[in-house]
Amino acid sequence: MARSPQHTALALVLLCAATIMAAPATADVDSHSFPVFDANTTDVLWVATNETVVQGASLLFQPERPFPEVNASEGFLVLPGQVDLWRASDDGGLPAREASFNTSFTVESSATPVSFVILLDRFPTFNNPVGLRGANNNSNTGAVPNATADGLAAVEVGTVKSYAPESPDVGLNVTVTPNGTADAAVWIEYDAVAHLLRVYVGAAGGEQRPAKALLDTPLSLAGQGTAQTSPTGFFVGQGTTQTALVGFFAGTVRDIFDGVRDWDLTVDRFDGNKKKGTSWWVILIAVLGSVVAAAAIVSLVVWRFVSRRRARSMGPTKL
Ligand SMILES: *[C@@H]1O[C@H](CO)[C@@H](O)[C@H](O)[C@H]1NC(C)=O
Ligand SMILES: *[C@@H]1O[C@H](CO)[C@@H](O)[C@H](O)[C@H]1NC(C)=O
Ligand SMILES: *[C@@H]1O[C@H](CO)[C@@H](O)[C@H](O)[C@H]1NC(C)=O
Ligand SMILES: *[C@@H]1O[C@H](CO)[C@@H](O)[C@H](O)[C@H]1NC(C)=O
Ligand SMILES: *[C@@H]1O[C@H](CO)[C@@H](O)[C@H](O)[C@H]1NC(C)=O
Ligand SMILES: *[C@@H]1O[C@H](CO)[C@@H](O)[C@H](O)[C@H]1NC(C)=O
Ligand SMILES: *[C@@H]1O[C@H](CO)[C@@H](O)[C@H](O)[C@H]1NC(C)=O
Ligand SMILES: *[C@@H]1O[C@H](CO)[C@@H](O)[C@H](O)[C@H]1NC(C)=O
Repeated sequence: MARSPQHTALALVLLCAATIMAAPATADVDSHSFPVFDANTTDVLWVATNETVVQGASLLFQPERPFPEVNASEGFLVLPGQVDLWRASDDGGLPAREASFNTSFTVESSATPVSFVILLDRFPTFNNPVGLRGANNNSNTGAVPNATADGLAAVEVGTVKSYAPESPDVGLNVTVTPNGTADAAVWIEYDAVAHLLRVYVGAAGGEQRPAKALLDTPLSLAGQGTAQTSPTGFFVGQGTTQTALVGFFAGTVRDIFDGVRDWDLTVDRFDGNKKKGTSWWVILIAVLGSVVAAAAIVSLVVWRFVSRRRARSMGPTKL
């Protein structure tokens, strides 16, 4: 089937209804775990570039290798739907509740820089002239908190610039640049009560996280629109929306698939909170907002259907 000529409006739909895959490990946290990113594990994950949203990242691993340009583009791999980060209070004052989280993952020694990111509750606007990395001239950041773990990786803590110019510094961006000598295990822990972010880096291979953080820095994810300035003067973020997309960013989407493994994330769950994913069509309409895009989606659904039919007619394949 011919691909839509509206390349820049390309969008793929694999899942008809995105469901949050959070499976509670204990009563009060939501847990996500991805030992690797491959054809079998990425069904539920979403990929977003400056031109495309793929709901069902496993589509990119299909034998037909569809849409190689998505793999080659810089972009995000995120959990489906939203992660609850904080709750506004009724009186509009300080947030009523903020979630702590822990995440850990291994970055391959050969990987290009990979960023763990907390975005907003929507994808960055398509075809933003400043790209996903922002204009680089609008940052409030003089120096970003950063550190290097000897022989393993360099870590920088900053913001996500992808929503420039409206919101040039939002969320969280912890960028890990491996040294090329050995795989690095990374632990990122946010204590929402202390408003402190700690990043640990150690040798990969199932070892305990180091007792001492490589880097710690004040952070407040709430308080959208308000510059967060730490006692040491570091600007860390302008907060996020109450729920946000969470995942990884890299120079190419493929770098995330190939460079990151053993990803675990646990996030405090708010009491009585029923997890809700954002419907795929709500996001697509928000992101694409055009009839052209709707046509691209339909043709892709058809593509998917045809390729399944083909697979089935070729033999007793499940799927
Ligand atoms: C995915 O699962 C199938 C069936 O269990 C297996 O044959 C295949 O090797 C797996 N693929 C990967 C990339 O692990
Ligand atoms: C995307 O990258 C993954 C990981 O390297 C690879 O397995 C897959 O075949 C690629 N897909 C396309 C469409 O290039
Ligand atoms: C989107 O990103 C790709 C590279 O990742 C770039 O080649 C392309 O020009 C970008 N498109 C827009 C509209 O910024
Ligand atoms: C994060 O890890 C710390 C221990 O380092 C633990 O006390 C805390 O409960 C964990 N929080 C979450 C949300 O997993
Ligand atoms: C930042 O870059 C944007 C786009 O390149 C430009 O429009 C804007 O004037 C620049 N702002 C400053 C303060 O230089
Ligand atoms: C790293 O932090 C130091 C201060 O601790 C600062 O001087 C330097 O510019 C920072 N590096 C980057 C790349 O932001
Ligand atoms: C990389 O490793 C070498 C030797 O192991 C070390 O001298 C260097 O400081 C490391 N650089 C970074 C950025 O970690
Ligand atoms: C995250 O931070 C790194 C390092 O500062 C930067 O290169 C990258 O462009 C940032 N990513 C986004 C999406 O803002």
